[in-house]
Amino acid sequence: MNKEMIIVLDFGGQYNQLIARRVREQGVYCEVHPYTLGIEKIKAMNPKGIILTGGPNSVYGEKAIKVDEELFKLGIPVLGICYGAQLMAYTLGGKVSSAPTSEYGATEIILESDGGSILAGARGNSVCWMSHTDYIEQVPDGFDIIAHSEVCPVAAMENADRKLYATQFHPEVTHSEEGDTIFANFVKDICECTCEWKMDAFVKNAIDEAKAKVGNGKALCALSGGVDSSVAAVILSRAIGKNLTCVFVDHGLLRKNEADEVEAVFGASGNYDLNFIRVDARERFYKALQGVEEPEQKRKIIGEEFIRVFEEEAKKLGAVDFLVQGTIYPDVIESGLNQSDVIKSHHNVGGLPDHVDFKEIIEPLRMLFKDEVRKAGLELGLPEGLVFRQPFPGPGLGIRIIGEVTKEKVEIVQEADAIFREEMASFGWDKKADQYFAALSNLRSVGVMGDFRTYDYAVVIRAVETSDFMTATSVELPWELLKKVTSRIVNEVEHVNRVMLDCTSKPPGTIELE
Ligand code: XMP
Repeated sequence: MNKEMIIVLDFGGQYNQLIARRVREQGVYCEVHPYTLGIEKIKAMNPKGIILTGGPNSVYGEKAIKVDEELFKLGIPVLGICYGAQLMAYTLGGKVSSAPTSEYGATEIILESDGGSILAGARGNSVCWMSHTDYIEQVPDGFDIIAHSEVCPVAAMENADRKLYATQFHPEVTHSEEGDTIFANFVKDICECTCEWKMDAFVKNAIDEAKAKVGNGKALCALSGGVDSSVAAVILSRAIGKNLTCVFVDHGLLRKNEADEVEAVFGASGNYDLNFIRVDARERFYKALQGVEEPEQKRKIIGEEFIRVFEEEAKKLGAVDFLVQGTIYPDVIESGLNQSDVIKSHHNVGGLPDHVDFKEIIEPLRMLFKDEVRKAGLELGLPEGLVFRQPFPGPGLGIRIIGEVTKEKVEIVQEADAIFREEMASFGWDKKADQYFAALSNLRSVGVMGDFRTYDYAVVIRAVETSDFMTATSVELPWELLKKVTSRIVNEVEHVNRVMLDCTSKPPGTIELE
């Protein structure tokens, strides 16, 4: 595999994952590391370029994070962003001060001349995303000012001879109109990368690495049918064949027909050789959830029960050396890059045992973002329906049924959800919403059907748009679609006489109802 790499040194900014994504979009492999990585380790990694991120600190004062000046003498191109820009200026003898006026949000920048190397080809005036109170008052010797804004005299600076570049604004944020220009200039022209990082090479490499690691050992994977665990399982299957076993736990809280669909793809009649074991644990989960109404307690019971079932299956199989997990890069980054170099990866994925006796954990996707996992899935020939499946929470319908979960309620929500999904697809809205589902309120109300009074449940439907699932807005579904879904649900699903639309944003709501 092409080992060309750019390193992002993380100073605790909020957009750091985005920087890595932007570099990878240019076709170069990129890793995020804590700023404490150290010069020797950086040299050993032999990166083509280094990017210093933004962060909440000031370069002066008690909490100042410093960086070894040596970093700027390695001959490796460095791009400093926001705090990273100030750190570069300060370390090399420039002056950083607290700005009289802070700049937040979309801001116009004006190029000084031709934009230097870092902004070559950019428009003379463009909008960028600023978020700072400190600013570079004076650039270090040998640096040119490349751009300014109304209140910021140094919006970008560079010392092309030393290959050092900096932007006070955030090129990684989509609001920065010339963000792509900056990353393309840095990666291609300045770092001279060949930009050949592609998913087929990644997949091949992941298979080879897993093969080398597991050897003739045995591995076990908890397969949920979601894209992450499915891609991880198929990579391992390609690597070790029959020595992989995949356990799929049907906890009775899946969507309509989901267990059968997963088995059709991954079971004995499917195209993959996964030693697929389907465990029917439905009754066991319903029993454990009997009488429980409190959401957190429900989650805990579902999580614990899942672990018990999985452990029992592992024991039946005898000695298994490796546990395969579908951990992805955002989990790795979010689990405290700044606190420790060693990431306890098995804590990243909820609901899996950490006291089962495995020698090692294998996480073939730990360096991939979600969209890259999807590309890997396509590369491995997984069906598109599975690769682009909307997210489904681990506790499943258990957190889409408000109050006590019963088998009957699960059936109601499964039927209603299947109708909603079917109509979303037939109206062409399934690709426009990032997540959509039906849930069951524990509200019962009076209705009339035929000549009879009814006293039945209200189903809630919800469709949201989101890019990161941290915030979300309700999708404005067409009235025709809503009418059709409502009519079908009350007519076709027994014990439902009302359909409600949840159009709450997140915040203040969450995406799930519990
Ligand atoms: P909320 O409801 O927190 O959901 O706005 C954000 C995203 O996370 C999913 N979600 C979960 N996924 N286990 C999971 O694997 C969980 O316990 C869980 N709770 C929420 C949710 O479906 C949405 O995509």
